[in-house]
Amino acid sequence: MSKILLIGSGGRESAIAYKLRQSPKLSQLYVFPGNGGFPDSEVLAPNSFDLKNKSSVQSFIQKNEYDLVVVGPEDPLVDGIVDWLAEIGVPVFGPSAYCAQIEGSKEFAKALMIEAGVPTAKYASFEDYESAYSYVQKEGAPIVIKADGLAAGKGVTVCTELSQATQALKEIFLDNKFGKSGSKVVIEEFMEGQEASIFAISDGNTYFTLPAAQDHKRAYDGDEGPNTGGMGAYCPAPIVTKETLEKVNTLVFQPVFEIFRKKGNPYKGLLYAGLMIDAKGNPRVVEFNCRFGDPETQCVLPMLEGDLLEIFQASAKGALGDVKISLRPGASTVVVLAAEGYPDSYEKNIPLNLPETNSKDLVVFHAGTSKKDGNLISTGGRILGISSYGKDLKESVDKVYSYLGGFKISKTFFRKDIASKAL
Ligand code: AMP
Ligand code: GLY
Repeated sequence: MSKILLIGSGGRESAIAYKLRQSPKLSQLYVFPGNGGFPDSEVLAPNSFDLKNKSSVQSFIQKNEYDLVVVGPEDPLVDGIVDWLAEIGVPVFGPSAYCAQIEGSKEFAKALMIEAGVPTAKYASFEDYESAYSYVQKEGAPIVIKADGLAAGKGVTVCTELSQATQALKEIFLDNKFGKSGSKVVIEEFMEGQEASIFAISDGNTYFTLPAAQDHKRAYDGDEGPNTGGMGAYCPAPIVTKETLEKVNTLVFQPVFEIFRKKGNPYKGLLYAGLMIDAKGNPRVVEFNCRFGDPETQCVLPMLEGDLLEIFQASAKGALGDVKISLRPGASTVVVLAAEGYPDSYEKNIPLNLPETNSKDLVVFHAGTSKKDGNLISTGGRILGISSYGKDLKESVDKVYSYLGGFKISKTFFRKDIASKAL
């Protein structure tokens, strides 16, 4: 039996917790910092430790003797939490700081892809406004401008006009909009196609992929409005055919895991490939993340039949080959309920009164929520993820929207067209 600590507070961690609770091997789950959807018995006190402070993390975790620590978000991974826990001999699911650079630095990721021969957009990187500006003038639009470091999904501007590119460069270099993450930019060729997210879980030697999902990154229906962390997703995504998945394995995952091994830093944990699939079904990498996607996880994990706890432990131990991975037939969809104004400034402390769920396949995953005097309120831009499994995509989508149609929470919104392209 295992005592597990899950780090994170988003919809992704709610979905990971939901699957971990199904494991017969779980004795007790703890979460830090958690959100309003976790039972009080699982949530550690807010002052338990400081995620940014190595000795604070090490001493708390050592004292409490967890059998496994699961790290949800990218920030602690990039900061090195996996290495800190390895030093004190605590098993952990997630990549080392070295491997997490694949998300933490777009330049690291690009250089690695070129070295490994992974298909991706042509790019150049710059550390000052003038040289970035002249490169953009030379290349012309459409073009994509990215702040180099972590920017919570907001550091990327897809520019259809040159004036947008100039504006984005000004914001990064002259207005310092992204702080340290904006001291360097990566400028990329614009790729056409449809996006898909594929998760691979690796133990350093072997890996397996989960079914592809498609996220909806723009805030409003019809893919209009600003880029967000993701407003809804569905799985499996039919754009990723069997042939395309084979290409993703041979052209993306295998070479990337191989190059990490060659560098003496095998990649353990989850690797998220954000892909652009062209009209011929050929994949190119848009980005890598060193953690599960959000909200994709809320529709991908419900498709997993196997024991997630066993999978995480096997990844940490280097024994994934011994684990049986099985998937459910059918499909799963998640729709995000967000606060009005998200992804810019938005309302907080919205009271949340949610009806009971009306189907065993439907789950309300909490993200930006908290409990105040026993009442549920919103604390973040993405508040909830309503997720449902169905025997096919249509059934899963209908179940989600039928639940969402049954109540109204003022000052919130959700997209009405999640998965519609695939129906
Ligand atoms: P990223 O944070 O790198 O995933 O970028 C955010 C979003 O911008 C992606 O999900 C794509 O929709 C878009 N994007 C990023 N890079 C490119 C590219 N080179 N070509 C086309 N779209 C892109
Ligand atoms: N949904 C996009 C991400 O998790 O990065």
